[in-house]
Amino acid sequence: MKILSIETSCDETSVAVVEDGRKVLTNRIYSQIDIHKKYGGVVPEIASRNHVMKLPYIIEEALEESGLGFSDLDAIAVTNGPGLVGALLIGVSEAKALAYSLGLPLIGVNHIEGHIAANFLQYPDLEPPFLTLVVSGGHSHLVMVRDYQTFEIIGKTRDDAAGEAYDKISRVLGLGYPGGPAIDRSARKGNPHAVEFPRVFLEKESYDFSFSGLKSAVLNYLNGKKMKEEAIVVEDVAASFQLAVIEVLVEKTIHCALAQKADKICMAGGVSANSLLRGMMQEKAEENGLELYYPAPILCTDNAAMIGSMAYYNYINDVKSDLYLNAVPGLKI
Ligand code: KG4
Ligand code: ZN
Repeated sequence: MKILSIETSCDETSVAVVEDGRKVLTNRIYSQIDIHKKYGGVVPEIASRNHVMKLPYIIEEALEESGLGFSDLDAIAVTNGPGLVGALLIGVSEAKALAYSLGLPLIGVNHIEGHIAANFLQYPDLEPPFLTLVVSGGHSHLVMVRDYQTFEIIGKTRDDAAGEAYDKISRVLGLGYPGGPAIDRSARKGNPHAVEFPRVFLEKESYDFSFSGLKSAVLNYLNGKKMKEEAIVVEDVAASFQLAVIEVLVEKTIHCALAQKADKICMAGGVSANSLLRGMMQEKAEENGLELYYPAPILCTDNAAMIGSMAYYNYINDVKSDLYLNAVPGLKI
């Protein structure tokens, strides 16, 4: 079954064709990062306008690259939430128009479930149950994936998402947008023990996250240095901030997997491309006899192939949409 999938929830315009939920035939991604960079973050209105302008061409490119025509497709899938409402609406409208005109089934996909499904593309034999750490610009969730349709949230952020914290700290350090890769790179040249920022674990047995206190601690540290007119070593602050985030993510995920008796951990979302997170999680997973899975960086950040994978599992489990499908900015899993 070949599904053409569309992803426009934020600032990537992406179109993919995925076969049977596991094989990527094409995954075109047009990133608007360069456009939003100068504003220090995504400007929703500009994102929507660019999706409108680019999407039809990306669909053409995707079909051309896969050597397929519309008549080879079996269904149309689209992210219908969570995300920026205007941006989502562009993808949803295009998908509905295609499904209607081609007489194909329409499948709405939850963006977070899509991120998790990126692991199915990377590991064709991977099967639930497993625990997933979903860490992106909008989400930090620990999700127990019991089967292809049963997602149980065990913990989530109470304030900022991990990627959001990266983006905000990057801005104050003058490292630019998006902050994750910039801090990841800068931190490699710094001393992660230069500043001991707080690790916020919340209550015992809680699997929720909180990154706003850490963000304030970094800001207070920088303000204090400026007031005393002391030099700031950006690489040291980046490395120390990053270690404080990653230590909490790793420790909570491992504890959660053990408590849930999950023997497999998957990672998903933009922050799971982080080199320190991958290395530390691997080390701790091995120590605890757990298997670790994470997608290639291109499948960690927003892309339509992950939506095509999740769509397949929705479809074969009879979760289909109709032409009343709407964009739902706060869609829950
Ligand atoms: O999954 P994604 O593309 O979009 C959302 O659904 O939010 O994630 C984007 C987020 C951004 O906050 C970005 O700074 C972060 O992922 N990110 C990283 C890395 N690459 C992207 N964070 C840490 N380290 C990275 N290497
Ligand atoms: Zn995402």
